[in-house]
Amino acid sequence: MSKPLVSIIMGSANDWEIMQQAAQQLKDFGVVYDARVISAHRSPDLLFDYIKEISAQGVQCFIAGAGGAAHLAGVIAGKTTLPVLGVPMPSKYLKGMDSLLSIVQMPKGIPVATFTIGEAGAANAGLFAIAMLALNDAGLAGKLADYRNKQAAQIAATTLPSL
Ligand code: RP5
Repeated sequence: MSKPLVSIIMGSANDWEIMQQAAQQLKDFGVVYDARVISAHRSPDLLFDYIKEISAQGVQCFIAGAGGAAHLAGVIAGKTTLPVLGVPMPSKYLKGMDSLLSIVQMPKGIPVATFTIGEAGAANAGLFAIAMLALNDAGLAGKLADYRNKQAAQIAATTLPSL
């Protein structure tokens, strides 16, 4: 099995329903990933150990999904200079606005690229990771162009029912 190029971390197993969208995109493009549940506040030591271990394996970026007071992405970004892509989970009471603001409002100096709340954010984080990897992988860049062309063709072929 080849070494993972992307690490997907989520704060709870309950986030997987959303975060699997990121994994699915990577799988569809043939990008090897490692997906883990590790919480920044419930298991901080495990998080630090894992970041060190997976970075040594050659991972190129992290995708972090968390909800509520969602500090996971920011903490990862504080421990690595690799790009960190944050995905806000749709929390029960504030519908993910808490997660979004926690992830997007990183203070200057430690950036986290923040995606939209929920499934679209997770899928787009996966696609963004693919786009970054495609900068140095012509095969992957070709697959990404095909994927975009398919979407354009679908829109061009769409007709509306007449009234
Ligand atoms: C965060 O707290 C997780 O990312 C999750 O979205 C949220 C709630 O966790 P659970 O109570 O569902 O495990 O750490």
